[in-house]
Amino acid sequence: MAWTPTAVILFCVWTFIECTETQVVCTFSEDCVLQCSFKAAGEEVIHWTFTHKEDPVHAYYHDADHLEHQDQRFKGRTSLFNDLIKAGNASLRLRNSNIQDIGRYHCYISTNKGDQESWVNVEVHAPIQSVGIEMMGDEVSCSSQGIYPAPRVSWITDPPTQSDMLKDSTQTSADPRGLYSVQSRVRILGNISDHTYVCSVTSADGTQEWTTSLRQQEINSVNEGSVIIPCIALRTFNLHNFTLTWAFIRANKSEVILTFDSLTKQTVGHGTSQAKVYPDQVLSGNGSLWLQNTTQAGTYTCSFSAFQIQHLVHTHVKLTPARKKESGGNRSRLGVLAVIAVLALWIAGMMIMYARRRDKPSPPNSTTEDAAEMEPMRRGGAKASS
Ligand SMILES: *[C@@H]1O[C@H](CO)[C@@H](O)[C@H](O)[C@H]1NC(C)=O
Ligand SMILES: *[C@@H]1O[C@H](CO)[C@@H](O)[C@H](O)[C@H]1NC(C)=O
Ligand SMILES: *[C@@H]1O[C@H](CO)[C@@H](O)[C@H](O)[C@H]1NC(C)=O
Ligand SMILES: *[C@@H]1O[C@H](CO)[C@@H](O)[C@H](O)[C@H]1NC(C)=O
Ligand SMILES: *[C@@H]1O[C@H](CO)[C@@H](O)[C@H](O)[C@H]1NC(C)=O
Ligand SMILES: *[C@@H]1O[C@H](CO)[C@@H](O)[C@H](O)[C@H]1NC(C)=O
Repeated sequence: MAWTPTAVILFCVWTFIECTETQVVCTFSEDCVLQCSFKAAGEEVIHWTFTHKEDPVHAYYHDADHLEHQDQRFKGRTSLFNDLIKAGNASLRLRNSNIQDIGRYHCYISTNKGDQESWVNVEVHAPIQSVGIEMMGDEVSCSSQGIYPAPRVSWITDPPTQSDMLKDSTQTSADPRGLYSVQSRVRILGNISDHTYVCSVTSADGTQEWTTSLRQQEINSVNEGSVIIPCIALRTFNLHNFTLTWAFIRANKSEVILTFDSLTKQTVGHGTSQAKVYPDQVLSGNGSLWLQNTTQAGTYTCSFSAFQIQHLVHTHVKLTPARKKESGGNRSRLGVLAVIAVLALWIAGMMIMYARRRDKPSPPNSTTEDAAEMEPMRRGGAKASS
């Protein structure tokens, strides 16, 4: 016989016995107490059973637990508050609750003064613990795991776009424990840095909502120069209690550069002292990072995170070589070439003159004089070209 709520009420009215029905929401993998109280009158017999099949969950009589008939799935996971039984407390503690525990439990008590019974409807929820977001090719993907019942996923962008432009495809799958994973994707609209993509994962009963947003941008920085990497929190971000974290991605690993805590207003640096944020600006939602002199090309991540909400900005910093230095270098190289050319012309001229003079009759020692005159010039030419 299936115990529908109406059947329970009719049964209770008809039998004139005390019976009640309560609801309890257990958290997946945690302990849970199924309430049952009675009017104590000695010689208690307690039978907890599960569903209409009356699978034995826990039995107690002759002042002791009797678990020999207990259904296998509850083995080692149940207990009563034995010292409180004499006071009328027959509540059941169920350890490490799982999805198969969902259902209706029956608490039957018999004492010297008759029978009492009640029902407990058990629900098990696995709350949302985290939401991840990433760019995958020309899509943004948002995912979350280990949730029960299955959550809903929704997307918006900042600045807003018409919702029909933002078509999402969401896949929900259950793992062997019965918990749901969701993955939802939307196509990038226009240029990647045009929008911030905001993904919200909401629990089935609407009591929990996690929001994660991602913005991807690219900036150019001059080699070895200073740079400000922008990171502005969304207007909807709660600026009362959050942390700001800046990191650099090296070999697929995230290396924290600094963190800022809005409650302590303290910045904690990790490694480089040449990176900073401005506390007053951060507290008003501008987490831009100032990197002094040490800019490295690569991906910098900025994260504003607070309770159930996170805003991420991924910035690809490209380095362009310092231009001033290079053009200066070109100029001095051109100068050297010009000097060499002038010297070469001069040497050539001198050699022609020398050749002409040799054609004329001359005193025997004049050749050595000319050769001696030419020595420093050659040396000078060699110096200029080296
Ligand atoms: C029974 O005792 C337990 C442990 O103190 C308590 O958590 C529970 O609320 C009690 N239940 C009733 C019905 O009094
Ligand atoms: C994307 O950005 C590039 C350069 O920043 C620009 O030339 C182009 O028009 C943009 N495209 C769209 C669709 O906004
Ligand atoms: C980083 O991860 C990508 C894919 O996950 C992989 O192809 C690549 O080899 C990794 N690079 C390093 C340096 O570990
Ligand atoms: C954010 O702060 C940086 C650094 O002080 C500043 O350069 C930038 O203009 C600020 N941006 C906004 C939108 O206020
Ligand atoms: C920046 O780096 C250059 C050389 O790389 C160094 O001479 C200079 O002192 C540095 N400036 C600061 C403020 O660290
Ligand atoms: C700040 O938020 C964290 C969780 O993000 C929470 O644990 C903490 O209690 C909050 N503190 C205050 C003062 O609200």
